[in-house]
Amino acid sequence: MLAVAILAAGKGTRMKSELPKVLHKVSGKSLLNRVINSCSKLSPEKIFVIVGHKSDEIKKSLDSNNHRRKIHFILQEPQNGTGHAIQVLSKELNDFKGTLLILNGDVPLITPETLKDFLDKNAEENPDVSLITTRKERPLGYGRVFTNGKLIEKIVEERDCDEKERLNTLINAGIYCFKWEKLSKIVHKLKNNNKQKEIYLTDAISLLKTAFSYEIKNYDELQGVNNRIQLAKCEQILQKRIQDFHMMNGVTIINPASCTISEDAEIGIDVTLEANTHIRGESKISDNCIIGPNTFIENSFVDKNCNIINSTIFNSSLMKDINVGPYSHVRPGTKISSNTKIGNFVEIKNSHIEESVKINHLSYIGDSEIGQSTNIGAGTITANFDGSEKHTTTIGANCNVGANSVFIAPVNIEEYVTTAAGSVINKNVGKESLAIARAKQTNIKNWKKKKRKSN
Ligand code: UD1
Ligand code: CA
Repeated sequence: MLAVAILAAGKGTRMKSELPKVLHKVSGKSLLNRVINSCSKLSPEKIFVIVGHKSDEIKKSLDSNNHRRKIHFILQEPQNGTGHAIQVLSKELNDFKGTLLILNGDVPLITPETLKDFLDKNAEENPDVSLITTRKERPLGYGRVFTNGKLIEKIVEERDCDEKERLNTLINAGIYCFKWEKLSKIVHKLKNNNKQKEIYLTDAISLLKTAFSYEIKNYDELQGVNNRIQLAKCEQILQKRIQDFHMMNGVTIINPASCTISEDAEIGIDVTLEANTHIRGESKISDNCIIGPNTFIENSFVDKNCNIINSTIFNSSLMKDINVGPYSHVRPGTKISSNTKIGNFVEIKNSHIEESVKINHLSYIGDSEIGQSTNIGAGTITANFDGSEKHTTTIGANCNVGANSVFIAPVNIEEYVTTAAGSVINKNVGKESLAIARAKQTNIKNWKKKKRKSN
């Protein structure tokens, strides 16, 4: 039987943050969420998350997590170290017989594959405890692992190392597999006789008979997060992992270092991502699109052959053959049909734009329906908000909306309508009509500006 314990009670002092460390994000997901996701793939019997510092905030952050129901929170108060966390947990595990996989909540890049291998190897070797180790040229901040032949003798935290011990490059990744039967017998013997005056889980190793080192070469996966430099390092490692995957699958990324892609994004073949392009959340970009430079797309669907330049798109869907930008802002709830052109300085929110529409310049379209092949003139505004409520503007197919038209919603414009430039439209317009709603121009003949009196 497998149970998982994730240590997430610490404050993360070195982050210098109001936010608990494990809630800091790498590529859009919190460190803790990432560790939980990787562990869940092992289908454990139970997942315990040890919380303490700002525990409510941490619980709340997992509310929308799919695995929420399976997670048992254990409150560690005060937080006297990683060994103390397991002492607190031990009350919950009275009848438990099996393997306890313990992970620090700040190793976000560990993959389910590596964890699975680790568990398999542990089962094969069958020691009291196994732990994941790796060699780091500059092992700053990590506990050093001392072996004797195949077995581990002890772990010494960097702070407690003497000069010679500090030169050891074999480090503890903070991922352990214990036989609970063995750990439960010694966990309460752990003491805080070290520089930090904390109860260290790592001291359990020398109290057990057989401790096995599962050394892995790819230390990128084991990158811990204690400060924001390491957080950035994780982001860099993960982005390389994601972007390499897409490049191998037929995506051109002009300047990978300037782009970010969420691992939940799907990207088709022959897509080009220009510099400074960010594909976030659950977005899907279909074949043959050119995205960017300077473009941000979140939780959106983009069909084939679209060109999007210098623009921002949130929670929307765009059908094929659309041009967007430069400098367009497509806000949530927007659906744009194929062959449409959304031009510069155009903002669209919660609207449905039919095929072959042109909204080329300087417009705000909110809560609107725009029919097929309609042309929206420069500077058109849908005034959708009356100060307390939002209302809909409907403009039918094949309309010509004059430049600088304002539609005071709710208002309904039928098909083949033309509105004169500068009109403020607050009444419905029947089909094939021309609507003019502006003050008449008056020309005063022979009018000269009076001359100033000279003094
Ligand atoms: C720990 C290990 C170190 C290892 C490193 C790997 C110990 C004593 N040291 O050091 O050998 O190389 O991780 O990244 O374990 N936590 C609690 N309760 C507490 C204290 C901490 O739940 O009372 C949690 C933290 O939230 C964190 C994790 O345990 O997620 C590790 O704590 P941290 O302080 O980061 O340990 P390190 O100093 O990195
Ligand atoms: Ca750490």
